[in-house]
Amino acid sequence: MCGIFGYIGTKNNAAALVLEGLKTLEYRGYDSWGIAEVDGEKILTEKHVGKIGQATTILPESTLAIGHTRWATHGGVNITNAHPHLDCTKKIALIHNGIVENYVELKDELIKRKHSFNSETDTEVIVHLIEEYAKKYEFATAVRLAFNRLKGLNAIVALSVDQCEIVACKNGSPLVVGIGDKELFIASDAVGIIPHTKKIIFLKDNEMVVLNDSVSVNLLTTGDRITPEIEIIDWERREEGSMGNFPHFMIKEIHDQDHIIRHISKNLLSEIEQISTIIKKARGTFFIGAGTAYHACLAGTYLFAKIAKMHVNTAVASEFNYLEDFLTSESLIIALSQSGETIDVIEPLQRAKEKGTKIVAMVNNLGSTIYRMSDHKILLNAGPELAVASTKAYIAKLALLLLLVGTLSGQQKRIQNLLLKSAEEIKRLLSNNSKKEIKKIAQFLANKEHIYTIGRGVSYPTALEAALKIKEVSYIHTEGLAGGELKHGTIALISDGTPCIVFAPLDETHGAIISNATEIKARGGVIIGISPKKSTVFDYWIKVRDLQEATILAQIVPAQLLAYFLALEKNVDPDKPRNLAKSVTVK
Ligand code: G6P
Repeated sequence: MCGIFGYIGTKNNAAALVLEGLKTLEYRGYDSWGIAEVDGEKILTEKHVGKIGQATTILPESTLAIGHTRWATHGGVNITNAHPHLDCTKKIALIHNGIVENYVELKDELIKRKHSFNSETDTEVIVHLIEEYAKKYEFATAVRLAFNRLKGLNAIVALSVDQCEIVACKNGSPLVVGIGDKELFIASDAVGIIPHTKKIIFLKDNEMVVLNDSVSVNLLTTGDRITPEIEIIDWERREEGSMGNFPHFMIKEIHDQDHIIRHISKNLLSEIEQISTIIKKARGTFFIGAGTAYHACLAGTYLFAKIAKMHVNTAVASEFNYLEDFLTSESLIIALSQSGETIDVIEPLQRAKEKGTKIVAMVNNLGSTIYRMSDHKILLNAGPELAVASTKAYIAKLALLLLLVGTLSGQQKRIQNLLLKSAEEIKRLLSNNSKKEIKKIAQFLANKEHIYTIGRGVSYPTALEAALKIKEVSYIHTEGLAGGELKHGTIALISDGTPCIVFAPLDETHGAIISNATEIKARGGVIIGISPKKSTVFDYWIKVRDLQEATILAQIVPAQLLAYFLALEKNVDPDKPRNLAKSVTVK
């Protein structure tokens, strides 16, 4: 949510560079955008509602600019509320990611001091607060003191026309600094910086950075200068962040999946062994995650029970706050997250840390907040995932979880072989012929108002994830259920022509889920079976080979493809569905 990009250097197309940077952050989700640049002694801004699309900047040449993609929280989606915001003197511009929880009090205080506000945002108080402190202190100190008055988890980037510098602070959302040749960048994510430089600083919480003709990182508490760690990001990641020959990131990322499974099953065994030792020592293991990551957590619960014969608890991360009372210093939390920045996951982790609970992170983003705050970490190795709907990160999590339970139960080799077979099956499902068949089913589904998805056992999380994928990118109401729950309510909604996607692997759930499908069909439902075995109850059949425990990896792929083709049928941009954000950094 909200993307930040800033440039200071010797090139004179700063606004255009910032706009290019903002385009790389579009995946985070936004509804308006804007840029501010230094033009002599003034700040010039441009702001727009909607997507960037093919826009080029209208701003003149400059060597210093900041830009922002806004996902509205406080105040509607309009030009006035879009960032950057300016102070009363129009000499300071500010962009912000997060929520200022005490903005009402701060605004009252600033109004009393005769500051005038234009927008309804919480952000605008910050720039006026900086203006207030700048009356007494140099710019960087003013930004630091203002930031320290904010409650909540925030990242800000401020630009001063008088100082010709950028000052940024954070205690929540990510900020990454890129060090180029006589030029510096700051952004919410390294993806947009990597085309310019490999030298990156991941700013830590409670740090600030001053960018002018050099970089200085300081502590937010005292302002003392510290030596940052400069990381060199692998140049190859540039390619991974591009669409290649695919029309959308979503389909490109679906196609990355067989490669990811092979990579994980061959290269991450030692990390998995370390984590399995930690799990064995823990007294009570809890999986937490949000959205797709939560579905992977839920699949983990089944896999731990079924393969490792171990009980682990799973909770939706945003609910864990209300379940945490039983955590002790001997408990273990395993946090699953693609971005590593989801606030719903970060908050319970912060509280758990206070109790001394150990944390294992399974995240995709190196250097992200969850990655850094965890005691033990394992990277998903899925490469940058830029489509809002998560696909390859889900597969990566499932592959890691399967290897983990395989390791815990002494069956690592067997599971590894199954994973490699699942990679082959996914490749087959992604062949042109297979995609053509799935596209036809999407055409049938495209004018439906409701779709149901059902599964049992470890296929129940698959049903939930399939429903999430379809609703995220097609806007068709889709509900995922445990097959057994149908008769407890939802079957009342089945009538002539209601489509239901049924996950029927050849495991212990097969007979019961086929019975559930039959009950739906008896009420006029149309059954789309995803199964190794054809059944007379299926109106449409998508064959997914039996891969024993690794079937969960392959059987989600037809659902991901259905979601993608449905988005195309409905004319929805699958990479940027409305209202959604890739990285949810506010509650
Ligand atoms: C957002 C995204 C989802 C994602 C969820 C959790 O809602 O739109 O695709 O599953 O956040 O994100 P995480 O980065 O923690 O996996």
